[in-house]
Amino acid sequence: MSKTALVTGAASGLGYELAFLLIKDDYNLVLVDIDAPKLKEVKQFFNKTYKNTVTILVKDLSQPDVAQEIYNEVKQLPVIDVLVNNAGFGLFGTFANTDWKRESEMLHLHVLTTTHLTKLILPAMISRESGKILNISSLAAFQPGPMMSMYYASKSYILSFSEAIANELKGTGVTVTALCPGPTKTLFQQTVSSNCSENKISFNMACPTDVAQYGYNAMKRGKTVAIPGVFNKFLSTIPRFVTRNMATRIVRNIQEKNRA
Ligand SMILES: NC(=O)c1ccc[n+]([C@@H]2O[C@H](COP(=O)([O-])OP(=O)(O)OC[C@H]3O[C@@H](n4cnc5c(N)ncnc54)[C@H](OP(=O)(O)O)[C@@H]3O)[C@@H](O)[C@H]2O)c1
Repeated sequence: MSKTALVTGAASGLGYELAFLLIKDDYNLVLVDIDAPKLKEVKQFFNKTYKNTVTILVKDLSQPDVAQEIYNEVKQLPVIDVLVNNAGFGLFGTFANTDWKRESEMLHLHVLTTTHLTKLILPAMISRESGKILNISSLAAFQPGPMMSMYYASKSYILSFSEAIANELKGTGVTVTALCPGPTKTLFQQTVSSNCSENKISFNMACPTDVAQYGYNAMKRGKTVAIPGVFNKFLSTIPRFVTRNMATRIVRNIQEKNRA
C-alpha cells in the first residue's frame, strides 16, 4: 500500500524537488504552500504522470494555529509516514532596519509552525514505530549571521531542535534529519535579495535537484545531519577552527559583498 508524505513549501525549489522524489517512490502526497496557482500546477503535473493521490492545501504557514488547521484537515487521510518541514524564506538587512512584520512571519514559519506540525504528527509515528521527518535547516545554522541575523538564528533553532529530538527518538522507529544546504539555485536567493541590488552569490551554487536527492537519501538512511557538498561540509566546520567572533565577521563580509 502507498504511504503518505506531507511536504511544506512544495510549490517550488527544494520542496517541489522533494515532492517529486517522494511521488516517484510511490508516496501519496499532501502538498502545502502559500502559492495557490503554482501548487495547482504541481498537482496537475504529478497527476499526468502518477496515479498516486495528490492533495493540495493552500496555507500561509506563518500564521498562528496553521499547523493545527493542517493537522485537522489531514487527520481524515491515512497516516502521515513522512513529514518534510521545508517552507522558508530569507531576509537581508541590519536588524535595526528590517521589517518586524516580515521577520515575525519568518520566525513563526521557521520555528513555530515547524515545531507544532512535528508535535502534532509525531505521536502517531511513534505508536506505529515508523516514520521519517525531514527538516530543512541551512549552512547558516552553524554560526551567527550578521545582515541576516534572524534567518541564521531560526535555522540554528531548526538544526538544534532536530538533533535533540532525533536523539530522543532513538529506538522508536522514527528518525529526524536536518538538511543543511549551502546556496542553492531556487527562488529563495532572489527573494532574499529583493530589497537590494541583484544577488551576486554565484560560486558554490548548487542545483536543487541534487540537494533534494542528497537530503532524501539522508532521510531514508535516518542520518541526523545532512550537509550536501564537500565544500559546504568544510564551511560548516570553520567555527570549530576560528573564534566565534571571527566566524561571525567572515559571514558579515560574505553577506555584505554578495547582497548589499
Ligand atoms: N536556496 C537556498 O540557497 C537555500 C539554502 C539553505 C536553506 N534553504 C532553505 O530551503 C527551504 C526551501 O527554500 P527554497 O530554496 O526551495 O526556496 P523557494 O524556491 O522560494 O521555495 C520555498 C517555497 O515555500 C513557500 N513559502 C514561503 N513562505 C511561505 C508561507 N508563509 N506559507 C507557505 N508557503 C510558503 C514559497 O512560496 P512563495 O514563493 O509564494 O513565497 C515557495 O513555494 C527554505 O526553508 C530555505 O530556508 C535554501
